[in-house]
Amino acid sequence: MLSAIQIAIDGYSSTGKSTLAKALAKALGFLYVDSGAMYRAVTLYLIRHNITVERVEDVLDEIEVDFDDAHRIRLNGEVVDQDIREMEVSELVSEVAKVAAVRRKLVEQQQRFKQSVVMDGRDIGTVVFPSASLKLFMTASPEVRAQRRYDELIQQQKSVTLDQVRSNLKMRDYEDEHRAVDPLKKADDAYLLDNSSLSPDEQLQWVLDILRDKLAITA
Ligand code: DC
Repeated sequence: MLSAIQIAIDGYSSTGKSTLAKALAKALGFLYVDSGAMYRAVTLYLIRHNITVERVEDVLDEIEVDFDDAHRIRLNGEVVDQDIREMEVSELVSEVAKVAAVRRKLVEQQQRFKQSVVMDGRDIGTVVFPSASLKLFMTASPEVRAQRRYDELIQQQKSVTLDQVRSNLKMRDYEDEHRAVDPLKKADDAYLLDNSSLSPDEQLQWVLDILRDKLAITA
């Protein structure tokens, strides 16, 4: 049997990691896993049960996060793919993602995917799959990222201002890069992709070219 191929996509918030990861997984016939959704689901549990981040370790065993057959995130069996995108969750999730016990639990779960996979997050190429076949590190200008995220939230009828989105992104960048456990950083062997002026199709093509030229993997 051919061994499974892992593609790790890391980078800053709202750089289009999931758009690229989903398109890539579809083109290659791989599984797509959104690791950020797992941290968001744990955060949603705390919010719903009025539990402070300091107490998360006490309740970790009560929290089961997985994906259904349609790849939608579930929290203790309930599909929560919409709820985890609420601003309230976005505002707290980086605090939760700092907790070593939370990271340990979710990283272990992420490493259990044995099929060929495209996974996006912050520590996929550095911690979850350090031997991934292909690693990408995504970035884009802060203005482009804020506008993209704002447009997405407005489309979902969320009431936010561009300023709120901008400051949330700034806060999450800082938290992601400066946390003690598994901070966001580019793996030495990751390709840097700045997609500020690339369309989704152009960035997909950019990655497919690398896969074909460097790894002889064709879609
Ligand atoms: O990708 P996202 O914005 O949905 O991720 C939500 C938060 O979870 C983000 O602020 C950082 C954290 N995260 C993480 O620490 N490690 C990951 N592998 C994925 C996300």
